Amino acid sequence: MEKLVSLTIDGKQVTVPAGTLIVNAAKKIGIDIPVFCYHPKMEPVGMCRQCMVEVGRSVIDRATGQPVLDEDGTPKVQFGAKLETACTTPVSEGMVVIGTSEKVARGRKDILEFLLTSHPLDCPICDKGGECPLQNLTLRYGPGQSRFIYDEKMHLAKHYPLSELIYLDRERCIQCGRCVRFQTNIVDDPVIGFYNRGRSIQIISNSEPGFDSYFSGNTTDICPVGALTTADFRFQARPWELCSTASICTHCPVGCNLTINLRREARLDGDLVIKRILPRQNESVNEIWICDKGRFGYHYTESKQRLTQPLVRREGELVAIGWDEVLSYVAENFAHAGKNLLALASGRLSNEDLFNLSELSSGLGGKSALYTHMAGGDLVAQVGLGEGTNLSDLSKDTVILVVASDLEEEAPIWWLRVKQAVERGVSLIVANPRHTKLDHHASMIVHYPYGSEATTILAMINAISAKQNFPKAPKFQQGGEVVKTAAETISTAANLIVFYGSEGMGLEASQALAQACANLLVVTNHTHKINNGLIAVWPRANDQGGWELGYRPLPNLKEAFQQFESIYIAGADPVGDNPSLTDAVQDAGFVVVQDLFLTETAKLADVVLPVQPFTEREGTFTSGERRVQRFYPASIHPEYKPDYAIIAAISKLLGLNVEETPLRIFNRLAEKVPAFKGLSYRQLAQVGEQWPIIGRNDLYYGGSSYANAQGLGIHLSLPAQIPSLAWPQVPELNLPEGAILAVPITILYDHGQTIYHSQLLHQRIPPAHIALHPDDAQRLNIPDGTLVHFVLDGAPVEARFQINEKVPAGVALVPRSLGMPISAPVPIDIQVV
Ligand code: SF4
Ligand code: SF4
Ligand code: FES
Repeated sequence: MEKLVSLTIDGKQVTVPAGTLIVNAAKKIGIDIPVFCYHPKMEPVGMCRQCMVEVGRSVIDRATGQPVLDEDGTPKVQFGAKLETACTTPVSEGMVVIGTSEKVARGRKDILEFLLTSHPLDCPICDKGGECPLQNLTLRYGPGQSRFIYDEKMHLAKHYPLSELIYLDRERCIQCGRCVRFQTNIVDDPVIGFYNRGRSIQIISNSEPGFDSYFSGNTTDICPVGALTTADFRFQARPWELCSTASICTHCPVGCNLTINLRREARLDGDLVIKRILPRQNESVNEIWICDKGRFGYHYTESKQRLTQPLVRREGELVAIGWDEVLSYVAENFAHAGKNLLALASGRLSNEDLFNLSELSSGLGGKSALYTHMAGGDLVAQVGLGEGTNLSDLSKDTVILVVASDLEEEAPIWWLRVKQAVERGVSLIVANPRHTKLDHHASMIVHYPYGSEATTILAMINAISAKQNFPKAPKFQQGGEVVKTAAETISTAANLIVFYGSEGMGLEASQALAQACANLLVVTNHTHKINNGLIAVWPRANDQGGWELGYRPLPNLKEAFQQFESIYIAGADPVGDNPSLTDAVQDAGFVVVQDLFLTETAKLADVVLPVQPFTEREGTFTSGERRVQRFYPASIHPEYKPDYAIIAAISKLLGLNVEETPLRIFNRLAEKVPAFKGLSYRQLAQVGEQWPIIGRNDLYYGGSSYANAQGLGIHLSLPAQIPSLAWPQVPELNLPEGAILAVPITILYDHGQTIYHSQLLHQRIPPAHIALHPDDAQRLNIPDGTLVHFVLDGAPVEARFQINEKVPAGVALVPRSLGMPISAPVPIDIQVV
């Protein structure tokens, strides 16, 4: 049982766990003690002294160990001679804290006066003005006048780019150290630090390129002054001009909760324009953080290259056409195709879009398929995370296994949360053919050769089975010593969470890996329980939603395009990803593409339908953790239509009974799909108390992340039955002697349509490149940086040659979505251009 302690703060009684800091105990009862250097997500450092309070403690009789009583029978309280910092002082039984006395007011005033001796008085032109802790606290507690001579203020660099994303105003820094501690302690990217001493102390970046971290934007949220600002938002708007909408990030399967800030702008006739994206608190998903891709990668939604009207092919050209006419034309062709209709959609679409699309295709007797390079969502639907699982809340006897995923590149906030779980005592096993950043935090690292993903997990199962009489995987051995040790650790874990990715794999191999991982969970009895289960590290936000709704990938797209009479492609660009599909799409009977942009696939289509991005409409996504979360419309553009509405309009023309509004679609979905049974929009919008308490009325405590008032989302339920074991068919990689095996990997910043329109990120997006081990480079006699060419899936590719000692020998790492069509491992012949 946790020991509880009762104390009084400003006359209010509070009971909190022993060890709680005064500042947090006060927060729990609605008392805001001003802070600068303290942040509830970080260890206290007591640097700024802004939080000073009077602290009285019970006088204890040394002989009896009992409190000494006053004449009136109440415990005698003795106050210290000096003020104490509320952010470093833990509570004690009978403590009396006073934050409203003259003495405290004087202390706060003096600290503010001291801070303002160096800080410029440029609030009217500061981006933080209006939501600045220093400004707010100065108005509330600060001196009306300074005794300091104005001309003696420090003058330091004002627009210093720590990177192309983050700017530093050195004069404004109050040396609280939050940014440095966030980078060092929270995200393990110690790329900024203090330099110099005294009043000349400055924040510097010590990485090349500057501020080289995927999480840099979070420092601008927690900086308590306008010292750190984003290149995206600085000088763009004043905080009081902004309105806000709750949303969900669409860039990866984590499903980080966002707030979109907008402002009406005259240049767009009073339309709302997105000015910035900030985190929205969800302690079960992203806490109060987001990665830089989520923060800066929204510009595609407002790109001038977006499609604005439907297009139809006339005499070989795509020409504009009205909505009514185009929808009738599409419906006519779909009616003709009947069961020969293929609907191909990606996890960029919401649950409502995907549900309507499958209603349309099944209504005609056609087929729906998921556009993805990764499989196994059917198994995640059966042995995914137990309801209520929270990665921040795992016990020390939990094991996390991450296999075939470079988690920081693929799902940065999961990387962060796994790292934090390890710091709280969880054991981490990383299984991957090459070194990834997660290795730093692993208690065990299993390196296997590419192609042995599933067999490595099966070997773990057999190592466990050998001792515990579990069912054995056929054919596979127990594995080497590391595999056996990993298996031993897993076999003794109270809880097991397995993340699997698609590093080095295509559909077939990732399905086999998912099956092996599911089996590992089943044989060790780690399914259908809180804090246990399988998570797929999908490429898109709603891939898991697609699997839950019955979508499955097609093994051979070329064949499928030849086989079906009509093809309806939504949110996918198969030709852009793989030009060898050009002929198949060109030769297909009738092709409709529904997208934001005129993609390579759209250029070949018979009809192109423009859609709204997630910022202009509402719906739900199912995250990789199987959490269904709502997003809301930020800017409204009635001239565009959301996917579900376009699909509904076509369905109506076909005489199908399909709902037209997201609420009704979701209700129908919840009736029909067992995992969603009982869910409603209202439930998804429910919120509960979260810790730390953050919000707009006290920005000095948590920073400028938004509190969550629009929904924490709900985990999908698991089927009652634990699936019976089925052993996977593991595809074999047959590599010719001495050949180089090209393997696909995923990187955070790529050329994808939803990222490339954010110009700010262009410096982070690498050119097409492949990476090989130095021994292979020497054998091939190719120097670092050389332009090389090779053939992938029949298409000639040019790329920069990189030498990287972390790449296993005999392998070329080929990043996905950089214009190199790779869907599965394949031998390549590399030639210098
Ligand atoms: S830049 Fe901001 S967060 Fe960093 S030390 Fe200065 S005031 Fe604190
Ligand atoms: S971790 Fe994923 S979901 Fe979260 S902000 Fe980054 S890209 Fe978006
Ligand atoms: S010393 Fe407590 S907030 Fe800085």
